[in-house]
Amino acid sequence: MSLEEKLNHLEQMRQQARLAGGQDRIDAQHQKGKLTARERIELLVDERSFEEFDMFVTHRSADFGLAEQRIMGDGVITGCGKIHGRPVFIFSQDFTVFGGSLSEAHAEKICKIMDMAMKVGAPVIGLNDSGGARIQEGVVSLGGYADIFLRNTLASGVIPQISVILGPCAGGAVYSPAITDFVLMTKGTSYMFVTGPNVVKTVTHEQVTSEQLGGAMVHAAKSGVAHYACDNEADAIAKVKQLLSYMPQNNLEDPPLLECGDPLDREDSELNKLVPDNPNQPYDIKDVITRVVDQSSFFEVHEEFAQNIVVGFARLGGRSIGIIANQPAVMAGVLDINSSVKGARFIRFCDAFNIPILTFEDVPGFMPGTDQEHGGIIRSGAKLLYAYCEATVPKVTVITRKAYGGAYDVMNSKHVRGDMNYAWPTAEIAVMGPKGAVEIIFKKEIMASSDPELELKRKEEEYREKFANPFIAAARGYVDDIIEPKTTRPRLIRAFEMLAAKKDSNPPKKHGNIPL
Ligand code: HXC
Repeated sequence: MSLEEKLNHLEQMRQQARLAGGQDRIDAQHQKGKLTARERIELLVDERSFEEFDMFVTHRSADFGLAEQRIMGDGVITGCGKIHGRPVFIFSQDFTVFGGSLSEAHAEKICKIMDMAMKVGAPVIGLNDSGGARIQEGVVSLGGYADIFLRNTLASGVIPQISVILGPCAGGAVYSPAITDFVLMTKGTSYMFVTGPNVVKTVTHEQVTSEQLGGAMVHAAKSGVAHYACDNEADAIAKVKQLLSYMPQNNLEDPPLLECGDPLDREDSELNKLVPDNPNQPYDIKDVITRVVDQSSFFEVHEEFAQNIVVGFARLGGRSIGIIANQPAVMAGVLDINSSVKGARFIRFCDAFNIPILTFEDVPGFMPGTDQEHGGIIRSGAKLLYAYCEATVPKVTVITRKAYGGAYDVMNSKHVRGDMNYAWPTAEIAVMGPKGAVEIIFKKEIMASSDPELELKRKEEEYREKFANPFIAAARGYVDDIIEPKTTRPRLIRAFEMLAAKKDSNPPKKHGNIPL
């Protein structure tokens, strides 16, 4: 064969590999409102930046008629591309080949790019669309999954890992995305569950659809498994790109510093009016966040889940930061099991990847009740506390209003290594709210009074005057300064600039034992 003939043959082989499971199955994929594995990659990466690996890999099985069905690529496209000019490793499961099911060879391809991503220090993005373990292959397929789980775990905290669920993701297969840093799902076309509707019906006699059991909104709002429920695939892919823009390539790098069009000294007098005079009246902490950070830079994470805490990325003076904020507009911003876990996981991601943490605090305490106590609020609240204590990145706090009780300690207080702790003049820093406090410490006086209600009010006022302000904390240096709300942006920009070169560490250990 001449070189020209060989090149023609190569091109034919490539064409065949690109056709994967065939035109009919590609059409079926489109009819479901889904893109093909290759179209997804094209949408994700910078134009013509994708280098594909292992296009000619096939499975090596012969059981159940597999010997006659060898499709090049074996149901997953792997390789390296660029997003915003930075390399990322990608695997994209191809539902047109054995339903994207995972064979030994399919798993080997994924492991190869994960290993390379670790060597070069670049993120891994998994586009998942798979019927799970390749049933005909049996245990070698299960082994393939375990090989991936191990790599997900070893890569955790070293390179960012993002999972996009664009079709089925069932059985043990769910545990790879679950270990990764962020999970995005598409509404209506993706679902995740450990056991599907048929097994659920047999075991618990519940009748549910795939969507009800493990659709995007279920995991975004109820279970917290998914960080984003996306309108469609293009939306999911756009969100992946935005997420990556806040992150460094790996744990040894700093996040990218972008040019900032928003003036660094911009003050906002609206901030002076945001906190209502009545301490029981809510306001939306997202108004504070968006007024303070670089214009349009706030990108919320886990928006639908545990809305009493807000977490997300933003920029201040072009610098990436992670924000954790109590949300007085939802359940008065109380800390419960879900909000504690949500906050803790986000803090640990930021700390692992050198993203400074900004905390806005307005919290009446931890949620009371048997539901919470029996559900383990002690264990879960401890996760949030642990995450804050352990984090060594620059940590800045702004107390906008309530900082009550244990929650004062937890929410990045000075005592848990908060670097710069500011309070607005509206801050109330105390062991508990005035009413609860005076009912305990002045119980006898109130009962003995001729007008207990008036006495309660008087004592409450006395307590508020004494404790419900930031000056006692400031006198101790527990807050570094009391700032006028409108100056928050310039003050925070200066604080994070000052802290940019901060170095701190924890004692050497194999690993800590976060209360799980
Ligand atoms: C081999 C599979 C497959 C699988 C689907 N296919 N899943 N082949 N192994 N796991 C093939 C089908 O035979 C079919 O081939 C093609 O993919 C498309 O599948 P359909 O059923 O026609 O598609 P659809 O109706 O959209 O249904 C998709 C599905 C269903 C819901 C994913 O295929 C399904 O339930 N599959 C089995 C899911 C499952 O139980 N997997 C094992 C989970 S346990 P043709 O040739 O007709 O196109 C697991 C353990 C992991 O994964 C353990 C890790 C620790």
